[in-house]
Amino acid sequence: MNRPLTNTQMRDAEALLHAYTNTPALRETGAQMIAKGSGIHVFDDAGKPYIEGMSGLWCAGLGFGNEELVEAATKQMRELPYYHVFSGKSHEPAVELAEKIKDVTPGNMARVIYQSSGSEANDTQVKLAWYYNNALGRPEKKKIISRKKGYHGVTIVAASMTGLPYNHADFDLPVDRIKHTSTPHYWREGHPGETQEEFSARLAQDLSDLIAAEGPDTIAAFIAEPVMGAGGVITPPKGYFEAIMPILHEHDILCISDEVICGFGRTGNWFGAETFNMQPTSISMAKQLTGGFIPLSAVAINRDMADVIEANSGKVGLLGHGFTYGGHPVGCAVGIKTLEIYQRDNIVGKVARQAPAFKAHLDRLSQHPLVGEARASGLMGALELSPDGTPKTFEHPGKVGAKAAAEMLSRGVILRAIGDSLAFCPPMIITDAELDALFAPVEDALDATYIWAKTEGHITS
Ligand SMILES: Cc1ncc(COP(=O)(O)O)c(C=O)c1O
Repeated sequence: MNRPLTNTQMRDAEALLHAYTNTPALRETGAQMIAKGSGIHVFDDAGKPYIEGMSGLWCAGLGFGNEELVEAATKQMRELPYYHVFSGKSHEPAVELAEKIKDVTPGNMARVIYQSSGSEANDTQVKLAWYYNNALGRPEKKKIISRKKGYHGVTIVAASMTGLPYNHADFDLPVDRIKHTSTPHYWREGHPGETQEEFSARLAQDLSDLIAAEGPDTIAAFIAEPVMGAGGVITPPKGYFEAIMPILHEHDILCISDEVICGFGRTGNWFGAETFNMQPTSISMAKQLTGGFIPLSAVAINRDMADVIEANSGKVGLLGHGFTYGGHPVGCAVGIKTLEIYQRDNIVGKVARQAPAFKAHLDRLSQHPLVGEARASGLMGALELSPDGTPKTFEHPGKVGAKAAAEMLSRGVILRAIGDSLAFCPPMIITDAELDALFAPVEDALDATYIWAKTEGHITS
């Protein structure tokens, strides 16, 4: 039985339409009200602490209390709280952050264009790809290929590129011009006896076949997260991007790396593209760009794209794109400080150093009878739950995963159930002792979930 809702929970249910939420169910349970944060912890409105094992939404890489970021924002608010980069105006924080982004991104990125969210970054990517191909006199070259289970956001084009059913159902999406190719999930999609490299080659063939069927002259870009995040933390199989990249080159298809989660150290390198040998022509970034302290996103484009787009803006008269809050000075000031901290404290090196211990925790848990697969890259990972240890899905997908996340929550750790995968993405500042504390209750939570799943008939063997 649910406890009666608190006054705040009732006000919440009356006032908000919640994202990614079953609203009638929320009216029964009430939202979990979070009041404060500090280090890797958040505290609910009754003062109970939780380890935030997801960095909020994969973004609070420096945790939930960083005075340097607060200072940077405050100072900037006092000096110049708002300005923009439209119609020939600019400001120092926008310039300095763009220079820093160019320094840390792979692929000789030449220009940076700002937005406020990851979705806007990916919408910008598509518009720039279209603008670029129009400028080159290729008006037919406009389709975008993304992947089933990829996540690229929720605006109309970003949600269309997202390859998840909830983002399309009843929203009349995807729109035309967006095509989806196969998911690089070896454990689930690999054929019996197939090696990871063979699986990668088969997926590259799927991509080739899709390009051939649509016509190479109609495909503008391929977009991919180096590690699929919201699709379930799916790490690419061996040789995946090595097999994909030559196909993109052959057909002159832009390669967009969606680094909204993977960027800024999460996979143990500055960008996931470096970890997985992807050679992007452009990069989307957000979230850890400001440690989640303030909304800011950016797209970096390479020299060739920059030259073509800039020349075309001259021909058209101006680049008819930009957001009021894109390049907000406070966001940029926080971004500059965030990148400074990543560099000064060698956060990327720290993630790389802790990655084996993080993976070892997950690998050990993969022995649990409820776990089918453990996956990890840097400090992001998942345990995929399964009724019998194989890729077989539960009869009612999502129920067992949700129960496991609830069991973790009652043990003081916030994780996210993505279907029946339990995702882990702790703040990158997590200490070794805190990493142990994050994993300490998992086995117990899985045991409780397992017993429940048997009682409820989710596991019959
Ligand atoms: C890889 C990726 N791209 C884009 C987005 C969309 O970002 P936003 O929610 O800021 O629009 C997300 C959000 O989780 C993401 O994980």
